[in-house]
Amino acid sequence: MQNIDQFVDDHLDLQVRISYPQHHDFLIRHGLGLCSHVLDVGTGNGTFVSRLAQDHPHIQFVGIDKRKQYIEISKKVTRENLSTEHIDMFSRASTFDFSRFDGVLMRYFLLHVDNARKIFDLFKIKSLRPSKFWIIDLDWSVFTCEPHHDSFIKLTKLVKAFCSKISVHSSAGQNVLPILQELNYQNIYVEHLPFSSQKIALEDFALYLKQEVQCYSMMMGKDVNDPETIEIIRFVDEDFRSGGYHISYGMVLISAELE
Ligand SMILES: C[S@@+](CC[C@H](N)C(=O)[O-])C[C@H]1O[C@@H](n2cnc3c(N)ncnc32)[C@H](O)[C@@H]1O
Repeated sequence: MQNIDQFVDDHLDLQVRISYPQHHDFLIRHGLGLCSHVLDVGTGNGTFVSRLAQDHPHIQFVGIDKRKQYIEISKKVTRENLSTEHIDMFSRASTFDFSRFDGVLMRYFLLHVDNARKIFDLFKIKSLRPSKFWIIDLDWSVFTCEPHHDSFIKLTKLVKAFCSKISVHSSAGQNVLPILQELNYQNIYVEHLPFSSQKIALEDFALYLKQEVQCYSMMMGKDVNDPETIEIIRFVDEDFRSGGYHISYGMVLISAELE
């Protein structure tokens, strides 16, 4: 099997390909065009922010990530209005200036951190006023398979086991709303926009689910012959791909402001 970083890199690219139009549309409807400096927290390989930079040449974008390997990959694409930096959001030693951004994007980021509240506390203290926030993440309330299939339940358990391994709550995306309310962020808006077989081409969605299983399985340290992984992949490749199942892989999109 290929190297895990290369695998995750390809998977992030596929995620962007299937969801960019909808996620971009959400950002536009929630004020992206009014911003001049946008920070992308946990930018990964930078594919999403790079598309944004291409579509919005008048906005300056900065992507940050704690993984140096991703920052190196992101630097392969150069755009005048995009830079990326190797920064850990939780590093006390960092002198990174958060106060220069009037827009902050966190796309598939909170699922990977064990303390979402700390992040919103930090922005509450350090952000420019006014500034806009967009959070795009998993939403377990709309994670379903019709008709029921045991292998799908195993898929959900695999994702939850991974979250638990890295001490992250698997409902990270859903839990953002009460945090924002408690911290008095304003103009909070929530939209549920699941990846689903009704909206995404079946082939793309099947590939996405298969790669999702392979990613989490690798990250859990399982080998290629792990029977459960093989069983879930068979379900995706054969049963789901044949069109017999409707899967909704929940995504929540939230926007908020600090005035
Ligand atoms: C799934 S990727 C998100 C990729 C990207 N935002 C996108 O939309 O394609 C999550 C990223 O968050 C990064 N990350 C996790 N904790 C972080 C932290 N404390 N500071 C900065 N980046 C972090 C990880 O290294 C990973 O690249």
